[in-house]
Amino acid sequence: MKKKLPGFCAREFLLERCFMEYDPKKFYEQIGVQGMVSLTSKQKTASYLKFLKPFLQKDFKILDIGCGYGRLTIPLAKEGHNIEGVDLSPNLIEEAKLRAKKENLDVAFKIGDMRSLPYKDDSFDVVICMWSTFSYMLTVEDQVKALEQMARVLTKGGIAIIDLPSTEKNQTLEGTFIRENVLKTKILEIEHVVYLHTKETATNLLNQIKNIGSYEVKYENIGGARRLVLFFKKS
Ligand SMILES: C[S@@+](CC[C@H](N)C(=O)[O-])C[C@H]1O[C@@H](n2cnc3c(N)ncnc32)[C@H](O)[C@@H]1O
Repeated sequence: MKKKLPGFCAREFLLERCFMEYDPKKFYEQIGVQGMVSLTSKQKTASYLKFLKPFLQKDFKILDIGCGYGRLTIPLAKEGHNIEGVDLSPNLIEEAKLRAKKENLDVAFKIGDMRSLPYKDDSFDVVICMWSTFSYMLTVEDQVKALEQMARVLTKGGIAIIDLPSTEKNQTLEGTFIRENVLKTKILEIEHVVYLHTKETATNLLNQIKNIGSYEVKYENIGGARRLVLFFKKS
């Protein structure tokens, strides 16, 4: 009798390729600023700002990681916060610079990757990484790298606030899981791949960097949705 070949599944192969080739920079080039703006609202942004306020003091140096077009960076700078922004997507950084200029604000925006932040050690009192930006770290290895970078640029006692989608069982998540936590979906008809954490997996992740700080994982209501928020404090 002919032996069955060990499991080669074309569908799995294609999904894995999609995982390997996914580039958020391309996604944001395609979706553009208008696409991003269409996915949020003034109310949602106001709710994000309200959530952040208790953690931010006027004498703090703040870094907005994955700042996009400056949706949060610019209103915070307008309120007198000392904030800078960094993002992987050149088109969004260009827009952020234009928006800051229009408002006569002196905000430094840089193109950069959160896995190798272009800042010196101990530079910021708070780093924020909002609206699922951290979900583009598609492997735990990259997530640890990004967390270590956040810790590196934070001052002693400084905090990182990372806001992720909540993945409670009752939440409908449309798309195809490429791996256990990696979801392929479409946003505005454009292919999109993100890593989804549960409270448990996020806790396990932060536990990997417990030697450099303390952490907490909490559900918070932000922008009209239940979100999973990771807090990390550098020791
Ligand atoms: C959903 S947007 C959020 C933008 C912004 N944080 C906000 O709240 O409006 C996600 C952002 O993450 C950025 N991004 C994705 N991967 C990144 C990386 N490795 N390093 C820095 N930024 C990244 C994208 O370019 C995009 O601007």
